[in-house]
Amino acid sequence: MQTQNKKTGLTIIILAAGVGKRMKSSKAKVLHILGGRTLLQHVIDTSRELNPEKICVVIGHCGDQVKQEINDQSLCWVRQEKQLGTGHALMQAQHELTDDGMTLILYGDVPLIHVETLKNLLSEVRDNQCGLLTVNLNDPSGYGRIVRDTKTNEITSIVEHKDASEIQREICEVNTGIMLIPNKYLHRWLPKLTNENTQGEYYLTDVIALAVKENIQIKIVQPEYIYEVLGVNDKKQLAELERIYQRENANELMEKGVGLADPARIDIRGRLHCDQDVSIDINCIFEGVVELQNGVKIGAHCFLKNVRVASNSTIQPYSHIESAEIGHDCIIGPFARIRPGTKLMKAVHVGNFVEVKNSQIGKGSKANHLSYLGDTIVGENVNVGAGTITCNYDGANKHQTIIEDDVFIGSDTQLIAPIRISKGTTIGAGSTITRDTPENALTLSRAKQISITGWKRPKKS
Ligand code: UD1
Ligand code: CA
Repeated sequence: MQTQNKKTGLTIIILAAGVGKRMKSSKAKVLHILGGRTLLQHVIDTSRELNPEKICVVIGHCGDQVKQEINDQSLCWVRQEKQLGTGHALMQAQHELTDDGMTLILYGDVPLIHVETLKNLLSEVRDNQCGLLTVNLNDPSGYGRIVRDTKTNEITSIVEHKDASEIQREICEVNTGIMLIPNKYLHRWLPKLTNENTQGEYYLTDVIALAVKENIQIKIVQPEYIYEVLGVNDKKQLAELERIYQRENANELMEKGVGLADPARIDIRGRLHCDQDVSIDINCIFEGVVELQNGVKIGAHCFLKNVRVASNSTIQPYSHIESAEIGHDCIIGPFARIRPGTKLMKAVHVGNFVEVKNSQIGKGSKANHLSYLGDTIVGENVNVGAGTITCNYDGANKHQTIIEDDVFIGSDTQLIAPIRISKGTTIGAGSTITRDTPENALTLSRAKQISITGWKRPKKS
């Protein structure tokens, strides 16, 4: 595919200059987020899969904001200062087009177009033909209508809704806006476009009538799903496309064998890679790149961002894990919080209300209840008692705690970092440990227990 497209010299132009008033936002429309990526990024990512020679993005309204947010030097940015129509937008990019090759026109606010549909369009259309993506809608109002010759049924023009006659408005086949046109024709036709129509705009769609006039064949292709060509104009449509997108993700996962408790209740805002026999309960959110290896189980209401979970580990409900690596056979949660820079080895248990940050926990070690482990290296077979806290911060700097193999830390212990708890240490519950401990000894720091007899509780005055 790559070499084939290179040879034909495919340019993709993404129109993204429009205002997007109905979003009621200070943010450019194409920068709104769908599935963790901006609308425009979806279109750029899909475009890349076609290996084009060049991707041009036409920006206008909030152009600087768009360019900055996308932050991609490999794109060619074209300015359209005034939005005088889709044809005018293309005129601004005309100088970027070589003499031969083809140009595919996409839209920054139409995020769910399938790469297969575009590949289909590319393979259907030869260098001396034009390609057009159309759909049939029950309610075609607002769209440009595909007007066909009554005898031959060949397309003769596209008529915008506002310019259409009553009879033309009955037509249910509409223009999606997505077109594939040889550069040589664009160079010839763009200068011919006028703005003599109801909207006073330069319509790109008028090139179709010019093609017909020159007897150039127009190939019409339709997408598999109508939602592929739906645009986002307001927050309601954005939310609708979000659900469609998530449903697509869910279907793809299930086809690969992932068990989803409810495909309507999963959100993937990045990439989720799953091996075999993975199961995911309801209302989980996956951000960034998440990898779940064989047999991993994710409980309900978990949040995972940039995480790898090795085989046969279980993440119990309401756990929050970010930028971490979870080893094989671990049991995490419920209500665990694992923060960036954490690496858990095999068969580690991290239980409820335990927070782990920038720490490594060795094989078979456990911290099951109400703990904070920060900037800590924990060896193998360590038991961290309930309520144990590493005091890693002195108000200015962070310090490390090292807990060696086979340590047992009694409940409610404070470890004042920097500190080393040597191999085999036992720490008595309720201790505040300020100095390194010797190996295999019991260390504790407790005030002697005293009882005062005859003591009276204070009374309310
Ligand atoms: C356009 C088509 C119509 C089609 C419909 C599909 C034309 C004349 N009409 O109509 O046939 O059915 O899309 O949704 O092409 N844009 C710019 N610069 C401009 C104008 C538009 O970048 O000067 C961008 C917009 O940001 C938007 C896209 O082009 O992403 C479409 O523009 P819009 O005004 O929505 O076109 P429609 O009138 O809906
Ligand atoms: Ca539109």
